Amino acid sequence: MANLNTPPLKPFIVGLGGSLRPNSATEKAVRLTLQAAQQTGAETLFIGGPELELPMYDYGKAGGLPAAQHLIAQLRRADGVILASPGYHGSMSGLMKNAVDYIEEMSKDPSPYLHGRAVGCIATAGGWQGGATTLAAMRDVVHALRGWPTPLGVVINTAEPAFDEEDNCTNPRTHDQLICLGQQVAELAWSRNRARADAAILKFPDPTQQLLAVWLTYPFDEEREPQ
Ligand SMILES: Cc1cc2nc3c(=O)[nH]c(=O)nc-3n(C[C@H](O)[C@H](O)[C@H](O)COP(=O)(O)O)c2cc1C
Repeated sequence: MANLNTPPLKPFIVGLGGSLRPNSATEKAVRLTLQAAQQTGAETLFIGGPELELPMYDYGKAGGLPAAQHLIAQLRRADGVILASPGYHGSMSGLMKNAVDYIEEMSKDPSPYLHGRAVGCIATAGGWQGGATTLAAMRDVVHALRGWPTPLGVVINTAEPAFDEEDNCTNPRTHDQLICLGQQVAELAWSRNRARADAAILKFPDPTQQLLAVWLTYPFDEEREPQ
């Protein structure tokens, strides 16, 4: 596709994760990953453990639940997603799996489930084995939801503390992996938004109309930072 150099819409990246545990390592990992996405110019939102504490998903009954409606509304807007879970007994926590089950509410959307969205996965666990099995389970779930798992997935072994009390990531390798994950999600979101912007403009056969469409479609403000 021709690159018209139209400014792509700023991607919106949602990070879901953490546990109900205060000082959750999983939550710290998502926040750092979202910071990396934000540094590419993306808009980000964190939805943490307490906000994901929803009743067990019951098909078609999410309508009366404001927290579920908020979760679904933000995921509908999202161009990219970060999913992070502690490993509980070899897989993602029930809290996270139940929250993910609410994505069923998006099954009939124009972009159903996580269609077209880059999804970065992070697993924290008290050992490498639990982290690895949890990460693999999360990536399988992302495939089932039609999302695009990023090439990198991150496992954090919390038996070797990775964050200090000020939430700084003290393990340089883990730090770099989380930054890379945030960048991978954001980069795919930027490039998909760019392709969509170009496709929308190319619907107009006449170059003058294309130019007009660019001006009418995109608010040129200082916040916009095409990548
Ligand atoms: C119910 C429960 C089950 C767990 N199961 C495992 C496990 O199977 N393997 C493992 O390595 N760690 C296991 N852990 C340890 C957590 O995965 C680990 O402490 C995680 O980093 C906690 O994340 P948080 O700080 O975000 O709460 C378990 C912890 C809990 C509370």
